[in-house]
Amino acid sequence: MSTLEIPVLIARKRDGEALGREELLAFVGAYVAGEVDDAQMAAFLMAGVIRGFSRDEAVTLTEALLRSGDRIDLGGLRGPTVDKHSTGGVGDTTTLIVGPLLAAAGCQVAKLSGRGLGHTGGTLDKLESIPGLRVDLGADELEAQVERIGLAVAAATQDLVPADKRLYALRDVTATVASPALIASSVMSKKLAGGAQHVLLDVKAGDGAFMESVPEAHDLAQLCVEIGEAHGRRTGALVTDMSQPLGDAIGNALEVGTAVEVLQGERGGRLRDLSLALAAGLLELTGVEPGEASDRVADLLDRGAALDNFREFVAAQGGDTSVAEEPWDVLPRAPIVAEWRPGAGSVRGFACRRLGELAALLGAGRQRQGDTLDPAVGLEVLPRIGDMVRDGEVVARVHARTDAAAERVLAELSTAVMIGAHPAESVELIHEQVGLSTR
Ligand code: URA
Repeated sequence: MSTLEIPVLIARKRDGEALGREELLAFVGAYVAGEVDDAQMAAFLMAGVIRGFSRDEAVTLTEALLRSGDRIDLGGLRGPTVDKHSTGGVGDTTTLIVGPLLAAAGCQVAKLSGRGLGHTGGTLDKLESIPGLRVDLGADELEAQVERIGLAVAAATQDLVPADKRLYALRDVTATVASPALIASSVMSKKLAGGAQHVLLDVKAGDGAFMESVPEAHDLAQLCVEIGEAHGRRTGALVTDMSQPLGDAIGNALEVGTAVEVLQGERGGRLRDLSLALAAGLLELTGVEPGEASDRVADLLDRGAALDNFREFVAAQGGDTSVAEEPWDVLPRAPIVAEWRPGAGSVRGFACRRLGELAALLGAGRQRQGDTLDPAVGLEVLPRIGDMVRDGEVVARVHARTDAAAERVLAELSTAVMIGAHPAESVELIHEQVGLSTR
């Protein structure tokens, strides 16, 4: 692309034109090659955020990102290859349950995951709280492990969609993250590069998510599904509630412990319910009839098959397998556990993002990429919207490294958990399904 063509193309986007496939591929390709600089790309992104991108542009942007790096080839694996992705939430540990469940159901799960940033957690950080467990698997090791036990979870390498890494960093500092087409192409390029033929998105809606309203989340889900299908993958999405934490725990080891309790059949609630729905949704995408998919995953969880796979997975990645039996004896624990008892009332709502930030403040998350985490600390938040709280009942526990950190977070909890006199309606866990049958 010539230096003269670049500003013309940016101007056409500024004026609201949809660009053609070859033009977009050339523009992103030129950015990757260093011929389009960051200022030009930022102007283009801002024009797109304000004017919008067409569906075809979103599909092409995904292709352009995908072309920038390696793709994992899972074609040699025997069972159906599946992948799930959450757009990021608070207390969302479903991967640790859905992965083993799907592997127990005969699927092949090669999951490339990320680290937490800001108020959201990351699967790799959670897994690394299991003593010994490593996530730096090479492509061959990943594939061999999936072949053997059906599941591997590893860090995405620098070569997986490198253009997305650069673009995301630029979007982050130029207020251009919030575009459905940019988010969808970013997410889907990584899913497509991951190689699975069946992809299920968990698109969160609410204060703890990128998309605060259900209609916005629906549009993002729809676009992701269209991009996946246009690239030849069976793709579906659930739009799910993130106006409150999904599981009771927010923090790395705490979340692993609660996920193990779900796998052990010792813990119910929304974390279990959503994990089952995601696993069933993925089975449906592989061709299993919806009712049968739901029954099969519930049965695998109830008879401990998913827990057995989780144990094998931990062993394969070098972790202490007794985490599958006695998680709280193995996982790091914080020295201070302070209880919060706000008094009687009805839970009316959460500042969900703030809860994630408070956990990060305790040391469970990063303010900046590269910050060191404390695997033991975090929060437990026990009731959900619509629940009644009795006088003296524990509503939250703060797991902290120091008394001062615990005091600081305790003092802020009343601004993040809204308890009032009047009862509130509970909130649906799954708002919508896209590309799946209603069950
Ligand atoms: N997650 C991603 O991977 N990319 C985005 O743009 C937003 C969320």
